[in-house]
Amino acid sequence: MCIQVFTNMGLIDQLQVPVTLFSAVTLQQSSRAYSVIPPPRDSEEKEMMDRMLRVDHAGEYGANRIYAGQMAVLGRSRTGPLIQEMWDQEKKHLEKFNEILAENRVRPTALLPLWNVAGFVLGASSALLGKEGAMACTVAVEESITEHYNNQIRTLMEKDPERYTELLQVIKEFRDDEMEHHDTGLEHDAETVPGYWLLKNAIQLGCKVAIYVSQRI
Ligand SMILES: [Fe+2]
Ligand SMILES: [Fe+2]
Repeated sequence: MCIQVFTNMGLIDQLQVPVTLFSAVTLQQSSRAYSVIPPPRDSEEKEMMDRMLRVDHAGEYGANRIYAGQMAVLGRSRTGPLIQEMWDQEKKHLEKFNEILAENRVRPTALLPLWNVAGFVLGASSALLGKEGAMACTVAVEESITEHYNNQIRTLMEKDPERYTELLQVIKEFRDDEMEHHDTGLEHDAETVPGYWLLKNAIQLGCKVAIYVSQRI
C-alpha cells in the first residue's frame, strides 16, 4: 500500500527503482515456505542435500574445535584476539548449519565425537608449535574448506541456481569468510613455521578424508 501511495504522489523516478526491487524481493521471499532449502523433489535430491548439509555442518563443527584447541594454548598470547575473532565467525557458521539441519531434519554425521577430539587436538598441537604453527594449520584447513565450498557452489549452480538461491547465498558468504581466515593465516607468518609444506599437506590430507567420510557416515 505504501508503495502505491508513493507512486501516486509522483515521487521522483529514481525512488521507484529501489522500491520495485524491494517489493520484488519481499514477494519472492514470502512466496517461499522455507528459509534456506526447498522441500526435496525426490529421494535423489533429498540424498544429495543431506550429504551436502551433513558435511558442511561437520566442517564447521570441526573448525570450531580447531579454534578452541588453538585458544586453549594461545588464548592468553598476543595472537589470542585474532584467533578469537575467527572462532567467533565459525560459531556463527555452525549455528546456521545447526538451524538448517534441524529445519530439514538432516541428521548430523555420526562422527561428531571424533571431530570433537580430532579438531581440538589438531588446533592445540599446531598452536604448540607457536603462533606460526597455529596459522599454518589455519591456512591448510581454510584452504580445504574454501575449495570444498567452491565445489558445492559449482554443483548447485550447474543443477539449478534459481532453486538453491538461499543456500548458495549462505555458502558463498561462508566461503568468503573462510578465504579471509586463510589470508589472515598467511599474513601472520604461517609459512615461516619449520616444515610448513609437510604440515600443510598432512593437514589437508586429513581434511580430504574427513570430508569424504562425513558425507557418508
Ligand atoms: Fe566456517
Ligand atoms: Fe574459517
